[in-house]
Amino acid sequence: MRLSTTSSSAAVGNVSIHETFRVIELDAGYSSKTSKYISPPLTPRPNSRGPSTVSFSHESIHSIESQLAIIVPCKNEDVSILDGVLHGIPHECLIILVSNSEPQKYAAECALLTAYCQNAQREGIVAHQHDAGVAQAFSDAGMPEIVVPGSMPPRIRNGKGEAMIIGTALAKLAGKQYVGFVDADNLVAGSVHEYCKVYAAGLHYALNCPGSDEGDSHAMVRIKWNSKPKVRNGEIVFEKSGRSSRVVNEWMNRLLNAIVDVSPTGDNTTTIRTANAGEHAMSLDLALNLHFATGYAVEPYQLIDAWERMAASSVIDKSCDDLSCELDLSGFESPYTADDSSMSAYDSDDLSPAVSTSNSAYSTPVSSRPPSRNNIPISPDSRAVRILQIETRNPHFHDTGKGEEHISKMQAEGLSAIFHSRLIPDKLKDELRQYIKANLPGVSGIADDGTPSAPRVYPPVGAMDFAVFEARVKGLATTLKVVGEDAA
Ligand code: GDD
Repeated sequence: MRLSTTSSSAAVGNVSIHETFRVIELDAGYSSKTSKYISPPLTPRPNSRGPSTVSFSHESIHSIESQLAIIVPCKNEDVSILDGVLHGIPHECLIILVSNSEPQKYAAECALLTAYCQNAQREGIVAHQHDAGVAQAFSDAGMPEIVVPGSMPPRIRNGKGEAMIIGTALAKLAGKQYVGFVDADNLVAGSVHEYCKVYAAGLHYALNCPGSDEGDSHAMVRIKWNSKPKVRNGEIVFEKSGRSSRVVNEWMNRLLNAIVDVSPTGDNTTTIRTANAGEHAMSLDLALNLHFATGYAVEPYQLIDAWERMAASSVIDKSCDDLSCELDLSGFESPYTADDSSMSAYDSDDLSPAVSTSNSAYSTPVSSRPPSRNNIPISPDSRAVRILQIETRNPHFHDTGKGEEHISKMQAEGLSAIFHSRLIPDKLKDELRQYIKANLPGVSGIADDGTPSAPRVYPPVGAMDFAVFEARVKGLATTLKVVGEDAA
């Protein structure tokens, strides 16, 4: 693989997000060597230097893929489409299928994965999101928040974010170093393959380029698909941005502009093109450290969480100076409570009631939420976080028939993550409230004045006791299966 790179990045503390890289060659040739990454260095720079290209040897790609788990969240997708997705995942990657499908579909998914892995002589793991043993394992290992309170037998909440948490915990048990996420409704196996290759190349780059602290940085790769085709009047239109991404990217860029320390252009109105990136990968350490949000807030919230907790002191100090933080901690509640009374309207679980926005720590006005003293834990991990955005060659053909309501819900969940960030200045927050009021009226979780409910946010997966988790999962889970070559 060969990528075009750029040294332009926007830095918030030691979290840097790069201007978009591009795929130049899907295959850079048999004898391709990994470039020495001399230029451009991956350090934030105020001014962009022109794009340069880097190639990756098969050995470099393999070194990441052999440690990469590809997690496929799946809820009642067409099994023949899932079949294509599985076929696109490179052989060296471990497939982890986390399903929330109806029983009959789940049986078909298990049969499919088993047959595929046997055929391809590789390993896969499959589990159902509502497996009581998996829920018990999370509860006992220290993350009861992900379990529906009072459910008997216990079951994990619905939602894509929740499936990603399960997959990440299983990847840790499998001893992997990286996790990548691929949706199960992708119609083109070749694009899945490209995404996974891009994950490997991007992670290799982010972890090995100058300024990466000799592999000690955290790395994340977010896919900017080339286009999202739609059929209009019988013709395929290759749209460059999706309906949800367009909106969430814009507001994420506005937040970035308000908090950025080092900016590539002085005006980051287009730096972020992957706020909603459903397809992304990261080092396992980072995945264990981040807070995952529920449902479709999960991807936008990764950026917010990185800036809030992992950007180290500069952003914390900056937000206090700029936003006149008052040291008033009254009215704070833990964002991690498992008490149903604090449920967000964006909880993806069907049983969750929508509630007022005022009872979440994340909905507390920023002026009363001093970043260094609130009860949202700052990550003790001060390693640099390198976020790459990489544009693929393949278009993203997927199931577009989920309706307008689905898009509005996705927008609302993404915007709520931005709205409730403790870094957002009051003026921007007001503007966002007005936008939501005008554009998303009547959407679940949006108050009449446009205030969105705060997204449910979980503690870091890495805070769990993995010895307990492993013992419970192995002893209690009934749907969890390891299939394929070595499983026999
Ligand atoms: N296990 C599990 N549990 N999987 C789920 C659940 C759930 O509760 N809900 C959705 N999924 C799976 C779907 O089956 C699909 O494979 C994937 O998660 C994405 O869900 P979709 O509902 O198909 O989302 P989308 O295609 O509209 O949006 C995608 O792209 C957006 C960016 O444009 C998602 O990846 C979004 O997260 C992303 O923001």
